[in-house]
Amino acid sequence: MADTLTITDNRTGKQYEVPVAEGGVIRATDLRQIKTDKDDAGLMTYDPAFMNTAACRSRITYIDGDKGILEYRGYPIDQLAEHSTYLETAYLIMFGELPTDAQLKTWTQDITLHTMLHENIKKLMEGYQYDAHPMGVFLSTVGAFSTFYPDAKQIFDEQSRKKQIHRLIAKVPTIAAYAYRHSIGRPYNNPDNDLSFSGNFLNMLFKMTELKYKVNPVLERALDILFILHADHEQNCSTTAMRVIGSSQADPYSAMAGAAAALYGPLHGGANEAVLRMLKEIGSIDNVPGFIKRVKGGEGTRLMGFGHRVYKSYDPRAKIIKKTAYEVFEVTGKNPLLDIALELERIALEDEYFVSRKLYPNVDFYSGLIYQAMGFPVEMFAVLFAIARTVGWVAQWEEMLLDPETKIARPKQLYEGATTRDYIPMSNR
Ligand code: CMC
Repeated sequence: MADTLTITDNRTGKQYEVPVAEGGVIRATDLRQIKTDKDDAGLMTYDPAFMNTAACRSRITYIDGDKGILEYRGYPIDQLAEHSTYLETAYLIMFGELPTDAQLKTWTQDITLHTMLHENIKKLMEGYQYDAHPMGVFLSTVGAFSTFYPDAKQIFDEQSRKKQIHRLIAKVPTIAAYAYRHSIGRPYNNPDNDLSFSGNFLNMLFKMTELKYKVNPVLERALDILFILHADHEQNCSTTAMRVIGSSQADPYSAMAGAAAALYGPLHGGANEAVLRMLKEIGSIDNVPGFIKRVKGGEGTRLMGFGHRVYKSYDPRAKIIKKTAYEVFEVTGKNPLLDIALELERIALEDEYFVSRKLYPNVDFYSGLIYQAMGFPVEMFAVLFAIARTVGWVAQWEEMLLDPETKIARPKQLYEGATTRDYIPMSNR
């Protein structure tokens, strides 16, 4: 059996043979040879949301959406959530293998060394309005980093790249915590490098006058699990933004500001914030059937936290999160919105509308309930996602840079505007 595809162009009667590689991939540029005449630019594909277009090769994350599989570097997400820590998983995502004890110690040390922020960054953050959305503060502060670390422009220097990667992973929790403290008008807490990655983050967020912040181990572990679950998700919207911006050879801070901006949207990282707002709006279990009716009515209301572009059976992260939620509620007390969420899930999983469209709870359906129970305001949810996803973004960015096939991203368009016409003087318009 030949690994080729024979295409007959019925417009011209001509036949073409294009190679089929890797079990079912054709190169879009191979279609360019298919022309009606010599002036024709050649056949192209139209794929507005990249629904069926692979734009890169990657060795980082594997997803089988039909089977509900998510793996980082081949390791199933449930095993990592059970046995690993965020920093160990971050190492795995970055370097491709689980670290040895010595490698993990060095990696942890490298990250810990970079947790503090430059004093001028703090001043910059103080300039935001008291009610600035922390995600806006987060993404613009990450962008501002490029002015503090101009060495980041040396993207083809391995040592420089390494340093920016350490800085980014280490500093994002500090930015996030300061954005939060700023929004509630409390002084910033310095990082405490004796604590774990997640423990220190809780310290920077919630420490008051005590000399040493006492981390609750259940909440620390829950946060670490949530960070593991969000660490990477192959070519999603924000990662694509990171790769596209990075393909112009911008420094990683500028590229990551763009990735964080993509994550801010309610269809992506803003979804768990939207879930909480939705649950609040529904208000009580009695209102659930009415809400479901509105969603099905197609007036633009969506059941937030349901559905996924890739997962069409279930989101494996949602299962783990639901279990973690109950562990957190043991400590914090049950989130009163949980009952509404459970009822929504129960009805939706039985309802023909959701079943036929393969809409299941995604990672964000329960994560917001956990975050809220832990004391995070809803505005912080996307920021928490961004902290976790930082390693995924930088790993994908580096992979893109080192890929010999990388070129500046530049899709084509179908032009539908006006045809050529002459400029009309103002007096004649
Ligand atoms: N509630 C109600 N109907 C929905 C939903 C939903 N949450 N999601 C999809 N549908 C319907 C949609 O109206 C369409 O119906 P029809 O065929 O009758 O027009 C059908 O299901 C297919 O939807 P789609 O919009 O073509 O699917 P998509 O793959 O483009 O969208 C999605 C994926 C995640 C943007 C979408 O499911 C959605 O908006 N979900 C709610 C937002 C959300 O929870 N996002 C978090 C995603 S997980 C975190 C992350 O990775 O960022």
